[in-house]
Amino acid sequence: MKTSRGRYYDALQHITAISAADLTLRRSCNAIAKVVAKSMGMTGCRVLLLNPKNEYLTTVGAFGLSDLYLRKGPLDAKKSLPEVLDGHVAAVIHAPSDERVQHPEIAESQHVRSIVAAPIVRNGDTIGQLRVYSKETHSLSIVDEDFLKATCNICSVVLQKAELTQFKQRVKRSCAEAPKKSLPTQIPSSSLKPTEFAHESESEFASLLDFYQIEWLYEPRSFPLAWNAEGVSRMFTPDFYLPELDMYVELTTMKQDLITSKNRKVRKLREIYPDINIRLLTRKDFARLLSKYGYGPLGEAKVEGVGRVLYSQIQIQRKVRSLAKHISKDHQGQRIVIIGVLKGVMCFMADLMRHISIPTRIDYMDISHYGRDEDIVKITRDLDSSITGEHVLMVEDIVDTGMTLNYVLAHLASHRPASLRVCTLLDRKERRLANVKLDYVGFEIPDDFVVGYGLDYKGQYRNLPFIGVLHQG
Ligand code: IMP
Ligand code: MG
Repeated sequence: MKTSRGRYYDALQHITAISAADLTLRRSCNAIAKVVAKSMGMTGCRVLLLNPKNEYLTTVGAFGLSDLYLRKGPLDAKKSLPEVLDGHVAAVIHAPSDERVQHPEIAESQHVRSIVAAPIVRNGDTIGQLRVYSKETHSLSIVDEDFLKATCNICSVVLQKAELTQFKQRVKRSCAEAPKKSLPTQIPSSSLKPTEFAHESESEFASLLDFYQIEWLYEPRSFPLAWNAEGVSRMFTPDFYLPELDMYVELTTMKQDLITSKNRKVRKLREIYPDINIRLLTRKDFARLLSKYGYGPLGEAKVEGVGRVLYSQIQIQRKVRSLAKHISKDHQGQRIVIIGVLKGVMCFMADLMRHISIPTRIDYMDISHYGRDEDIVKITRDLDSSITGEHVLMVEDIVDTGMTLNYVLAHLASHRPASLRVCTLLDRKERRLANVKLDYVGFEIPDDFVVGYGLDYKGQYRNLPFIGVLHQG
């Protein structure tokens, strides 16, 4: 009988051979999962990929786990063994009762007792996990742990290889579509989606969602729809899940027979799982849906003039709520006067003030820039009421050089308010000239001209519900 070191040596030989073979990502990961489970004497194993924002884990390959276990939906990375995110190996001795396990009832029904999870790391960042499952209580030796870590390193290389392949395919596709268009020259870091789309329309849908910065998962969950004596006899796997909208989406073409059959499945799913929000979408419906969620008439196509969306409406709203919470907490027991400079601030200020929980009054100023380089600032509309002795919150859409804010703050300070704080949604630090202190900052942005959510370019684009970067050239 071989020692565990001997078994692991053989297994690693096998795994490195898999990593060098010409297989799809899913196949490589399935094969690696099988070798790992067998060599460790475990029941099952899977390779999980973390999304770039460290929120969700999706399965890219697995062995020995039931469909129910695999398709229970994306795992919340911060709730499911969160220590792995920080680069540690985590061991669960009794899964059904461990609070770090996201679906203990499924672990119980599948007789999973212990789980070991190890991080897959690249350049010091966790990009995924390897998890092994056992029906018995399994304690981890140092040799087991070393084996898992070595396998994770190989998985990291396998993921990188797949990323490179996807990148090459993308370049090839854009070459074919638009031979004259400039090509991406850099592989975006951690851009891998473990996705092989079944249809071109799904890939288009995903790219539109990407453009609007809407988070998506492809086929993350299957729903059993019918059962017989042997178990589940019919399943339905919707094409997409959009976590921010908590919505499943099934795409459909205009072919009537397909629509009817899909409609039937959707109806059945709603009947069995009334809490699940699912939509059957044609291309036209999709445009309509985007407009309902605030993407306006723009939903039909990517907005002309906007190169890419920097922050979606949902991301902005989340940030606005968090800023308002901090402001309300810091001014507990006080009244504040919120002051904005027209016109760029109007969307931000309107949203921000509705989330502030202390009594407020609002006021506006307007200024104009003149001089050869528009570097001289003049107040063209001053405050309506006095701010002497008041707690003042100055709200800005974007602080760029800081010259405008510097001038306005000096003006406000001359009225001797009790306190004067500044909140800006966007901060472009790189171009700062004036030394202004910002108390609340939404997003720090790179040196690109941005429009939308109140911000304009020659008076245009203020009505976009998101913040986008203007096309260069
Ligand atoms: P600053 O005086 O250079 O800090 O400029 C601040 C003002 O310039 C902001 O309040 C905006 O009105 C405008 N601004 C600066 N950068 C942008 C941008 O990227 N898009 C739209 N407006 C901008
Ligand atoms: Mg402004």
